[in-house]
Amino acid sequence: MTPIGVFDSGFGGLSIFREIHRLLPQYDYIFLGDNARAPYGDRTFDEVFRFTRQAVLRLFEMGCPLVILACNTASAKALRNIQQQVLPGLDDPTRRVLGVIRPTVERVGNLTYNGHVGLVATRATVSSLSYDMELAKVGGITLTSQACPRWVPLIESGRLHDEVLYNEVKSDLEQLFRADPEIDTIILGCTHYPLITSVIQQVLLDLDHPEVILMPQGKSVSYSLQDYLHRHPEMESRLSRTPLTTESATEGTTQFFTTGDVASFEQLATLFLGHNEQIKAERILL
Ligand code: DGL
Repeated sequence: MTPIGVFDSGFGGLSIFREIHRLLPQYDYIFLGDNARAPYGDRTFDEVFRFTRQAVLRLFEMGCPLVILACNTASAKALRNIQQQVLPGLDDPTRRVLGVIRPTVERVGNLTYNGHVGLVATRATVSSLSYDMELAKVGGITLTSQACPRWVPLIESGRLHDEVLYNEVKSDLEQLFRADPEIDTIILGCTHYPLITSVIQQVLLDLDHPEVILMPQGKSVSYSLQDYLHRHPEMESRLSRTPLTTESATEGTTQFFTTGDVASFEQLATLFLGHNEQIKAERILL
């Protein structure tokens, strides 16, 4: 099997995987969450690079010729070094790793009306200035960023609907709007955040900003992957898949791995993906 690998520090990448799978169900996938070491958002550059490199190499060993870093923190802090330093030195240098920041930046201009865009993300992503640099290439957008360090630990612990999370979201969004009251679009620049969309929407209502558009990244990343595969038939033809027929909509296989507790991964992943049947996961050590 030669599946597409999807990696995140924890559960967040499932919000990306869900959209990729919806658009491209025919391929086989391996999802890997480094839940034991999440969150990555307050870790140093070296740690994020080292952990991400380990995960990518493991996914390559498992047969994936293509890995998506479904994590902004890893995309901001490790993607470039992996592409420039790690891939060329491998036995098979044709393997590829893609991130989530470029696909997001390419599409946010289609959503904003006034060019005032907010970014909520981990401290690591915000301080990397990756979005600022990528958006500067596109032009025409005023970006205001807000680091939200408490959101991911609360999501990873499964506290999705309690008051603590609501208060954190409220205080971070208040700060964001204080910095730029004209923001009309907010990039959810951490793949964990779509898992708490309803909380964020409630806060926007309570702060009197119901018109603000939220931009999760799953759709941008999945369309960008589809486009990448069209432009790279040499990669597309290597991926294992189940042929889609018009009569029966079949889909490829997905294997889930976590470095953390399997039972809680299975429970939360089933919830996040909205599956009727319980997802099965395996423990992996990196
Ligand atoms: N979901 C990841 C991101 O998009 C990582 C969050 C974290 O581990 O802190 O940034």
